[in-house]
Amino acid sequence: MKAAVVSVLILLVIFVAWPVSADRKDLPGAGGYGGDEDDDNDTKSWFPLDNQLSLSYYDRICPDFEKIVATKVREWTKKDSSLGPALLRLLFHDCGVTGCDASVLLDHEGSERRSPASKTLRGFELIDDIKSEIEKACPGLVSCADILTAASRDATFQLGGPYWPNAYGRRDSTDSYARDVEKVPSGRRDITALLETFQSYGLNVLDLVVLSGAHTIGKAYCGTIQSRLYNFNATYGTDPSIDSKYADFLRRKCRVASETVYLDAATPVKFDNQYYINLQKNMGVLTTDQELVKDPRTAPLVKAFAEQPPHMFRQQFAVSMVKLANVGVITGEDRIGVIRKVCSKSNSRPY
Ligand code: HEM
Repeated sequence: MKAAVVSVLILLVIFVAWPVSADRKDLPGAGGYGGDEDDDNDTKSWFPLDNQLSLSYYDRICPDFEKIVATKVREWTKKDSSLGPALLRLLFHDCGVTGCDASVLLDHEGSERRSPASKTLRGFELIDDIKSEIEKACPGLVSCADILTAASRDATFQLGGPYWPNAYGRRDSTDSYARDVEKVPSGRRDITALLETFQSYGLNVLDLVVLSGAHTIGKAYCGTIQSRLYNFNATYGTDPSIDSKYADFLRRKCRVASETVYLDAATPVKFDNQYYINLQKNMGVLTTDQELVKDPRTAPLVKAFAEQPPHMFRQQFAVSMVKLANVGVITGEDRIGVIRKVCSKSNSRPY
């Protein structure tokens, strides 16, 4: 009964929160690289409005944008399937630090990407490759933040996840600071800390539970969970909340920190609701995963997603991803963002 009520609530949220479509706006706006570039010279009468994201943002200025991204993501993930989960995580680490502004992509001394906490992030070369292809088709018009948003969606879809419409028009940051990376939660926080972090993004408890479901795909480094396996609460023991057989498996697998384990042991490469079923069996890999089933604020949602058909999770995942991809975006109107020429380099930085 309780689960049914939660499901109805979830459905309501899906319909209320589904992003509204934006109409084509045939009004003047600014294009070009921005920042140190003379962006106003390039103004054309059919540029989209630059004070908001729009579903049709690139329709006229770069009609092949989404096609190029999807093709590149398919090409790269065909060769290395682990890049799909990596891209999805990369978007979270971009949006979770100073908003979805591609700050995570900048590669210079002291940047987010150079922080120890970003060491296991991947997918940068794929984004660079997409950017250079897009620069050939429509130079100076497509931001790295939009490319990452599109690539992450396509990677999720290609792994069997949901598809959702992306609104575009983000600008890129001009800088990036390693010290900001602490805003992205580590795998050892408690639920209160996670909720506070998500609230600071403008996301709620449902978004937290649903987006954590991204851990239905991908891997964690054993180094990330070794303290949970061998030194829980400084006891040299294993976290007793892990299912004992699964704990045996993890301990055998994780003798070396550089080894990896799937975040969803049961269906590791399938984008389904198995993650929530695992949590109920005490088979969450990260402390933050397992905590979701213990905390009264999140446990009913875990139960609902575990018990409902997988499409309930997939639909809500799409809704929450749209919200995540809109966190702290810079638009042209803000005048502080740019369209980077190369995603890993700031336009104004003398390299
Ligand atoms: C709720 C807070 C979250 C925490 C504490 C967290 C933490 C982590 C950690 C510790 C790892 C393993 C990293 C490693 O060992 O190198 C990981 C992997 C991953 N995370 Fe999260 N995460 C969170 C939310 C998210 C969100 C919101 C998404 C995307 C929407 C996401 C997507 C992923 C993916 C796909 C992987 C696997 C990456 C790969 O295989 O390369 N995570 N996460």
